[in-house]
Amino acid sequence: MKFFVDTAEIDEIAELHDLGMVDGVTTNPSLILKSGRDILEVTKEICALVPGPVSAEVVALDADAMIEEGRKLAKIADNVTVKLPLTWDGLKACKVLSGEGKMVNVTLCFSANQALLAAKAGATFISPFIGRLDDINIDGMDLIQDIRVIYDNYGFETQILAASIRSVNHILDSARIGADVITAPTKVIKAMAGHPLTDKGLAQFMADWEKTGQKIL
Ligand code: E4P
Repeated sequence: MKFFVDTAEIDEIAELHDLGMVDGVTTNPSLILKSGRDILEVTKEICALVPGPVSAEVVALDADAMIEEGRKLAKIADNVTVKLPLTWDGLKACKVLSGEGKMVNVTLCFSANQALLAAKAGATFISPFIGRLDDINIDGMDLIQDIRVIYDNYGFETQILAASIRSVNHILDSARIGADVITAPTKVIKAMAGHPLTDKGLAQFMADWEKTGQKIL
């Protein structure tokens, strides 16, 4: 399973990248706002740091303007993935940009039918939003499962990029189902390392070590 980090914060990306945890990065207009950075500049910096796919999202709503924005974003670096919303215009833009050989991430996917259309339009990645479905009491993992079955039934190569991840269990369940990629905030990826029994065991070891009076260094 590939790990993308869902942020435009360079320091966070660099820390995880040094550990070999970052296979790619996703951003969106809200994350760009949070970073306080210029989209073109920060995308260029991220692309120089991370060799894998870096999603940068268009903000136009009609297909022709999306295509122009997508072409401009794709010029930033070879590893830019143009992120397009799952609308009819977004699908048109997906068809054109993927036909030009650009990587495309179709985002804001909330149904398996939407995912089916994105695959037929040539999307490199489909981003089903788990957390936002959970927010309205619909199980987001059911969507990941449905898309996995449908893509496998017909051999679609579009990669399932499980997005809007809010908890470590979202990552575990996505891995169990066979999502190709997860994108998660830094704090959720770091939380995967935590376990109360690890903390308890380490505290016991430290207490016993203290009693030995020994030193390693
Ligand atoms: C994915 O590409 C999106 O940027 C992201 O996962 C959205 O997550 P949110 O629902 O927590 O904002």
